[in-house]
Amino acid sequence: MNSIIVGLQWGDEGKGKVVDLLSPSFCYVVRFQGGNNAGHTLVLGDQTIALHLVPSGILREGVQCIIGNGVVLDPQVLVEELEKLQSIGVNTSSLRVSSIAHIILPLHRTRDSSQEEKLGQKKIGTTKRGIGPTYEDKIGRRGMRVCDFINTELRQEKLRKFASNSAQHNYEELEAWAAPLAEKLADCSTDTPALLHEAILENKPILFEGAQGTFLDIDHGSYPYVTSSNTVAGSACAGAGVGPTHIKNVIGIAKAYLTRVGSGPFATELFDQVGERIQRVGGEFGATTGRPRRCGWLDLPQLKRSCMLNGVTHLCLTKIDVLSGLSEISLCIAHEEAGPKYKTFPGWEEDITQIRNFEELPKTCQEYVLFVESFIATPITMVSVGPDRNANIFRGSFF
Ligand code: IMP
Repeated sequence: MNSIIVGLQWGDEGKGKVVDLLSPSFCYVVRFQGGNNAGHTLVLGDQTIALHLVPSGILREGVQCIIGNGVVLDPQVLVEELEKLQSIGVNTSSLRVSSIAHIILPLHRTRDSSQEEKLGQKKIGTTKRGIGPTYEDKIGRRGMRVCDFINTELRQEKLRKFASNSAQHNYEELEAWAAPLAEKLADCSTDTPALLHEAILENKPILFEGAQGTFLDIDHGSYPYVTSSNTVAGSACAGAGVGPTHIKNVIGIAKAYLTRVGSGPFATELFDQVGERIQRVGGEFGATTGRPRRCGWLDLPQLKRSCMLNGVTHLCLTKIDVLSGLSEISLCIAHEEAGPKYKTFPGWEEDITQIRNFEELPKTCQEYVLFVESFIATPITMVSVGPDRNANIFRGSFF
């Protein structure tokens, strides 16, 4: 039952909630791409924690969390997140980091910001966390891996080289930053593909947690307005070191409407009070950068393509409660030369956050979900009707 969870839109689909919900059924939760450009807010009693790098499964006792080789890792962010979690009593001792994941250095963050500045009006709208430049160095075969970083000699040699090519950072500053972090990282660095292989042999189920979304994928997204990694489900295998024959399910997460942070095309974007209302009611502000998210209607041809690109076996439709109270709700059913073609549904007035059976939803809400399901030809297994961990309607089982 090894499963991959991926976002089917431009990120922020509510993957964290679904990972949190499903993680008790798994022994391992693995991140396989991206870095601390991701973000999810976890609520634990009266505490709220924003995590950007550590997998969402960390809050579940007995679940081992892994940061896979496909991730780019800012060691400072990792140490800060672990300390924050420990301060509220979360046991983080089982977290393991791939020894061949690449390290984000302060100079990557600087380069991210200056590249964006140079683009002016054409900027990508990155999170400025150094993600793109770190992947550039990885692909350019000059990157710093965790195993290099925790080896004093190799680290210093590489930092000298990086510093010699940087106008803003010198070697002494980089090494002063790196040395204490390397010591902390050494404790959790390991051969994670081998660890996962052992888990597979022992039939211990693994959940692969995607970050960002399908249309931010470096190949399949709206290039160049994309992130610098493959975000589609296929990337889980390379980014964790697990063969595709070991994966059973691909669980796709999509919001009942659409949002996007940063620049780039967005055919169904709303520029009116409906868009503003969705933004306000849905709390659509970036978890990483705090930027307001652009909002629009659900784009069904796009969602269908996403199901195709990821091989989705089960879909979770999230935040449908945000649409309650709208007099009309539109769905994009085709893209024509003149623009998106919509099918408009009557809305519903009721608060649906307490409903747990599909048949108890307002008829118009049911019709909306069923129309989406038949258009994308993929089963909608779960509908999320509120932020609460239990605010879900199940229409089938995941495993
Ligand atoms: P980068 O990943 O920081 O290089 O940013 C590239 C693009 O991906 C920008 O449009 C970001 O806003 C977007 N992006 C990156 N991570 C996320 C995420 O977790 N959610 C939504 N958008 C993201």
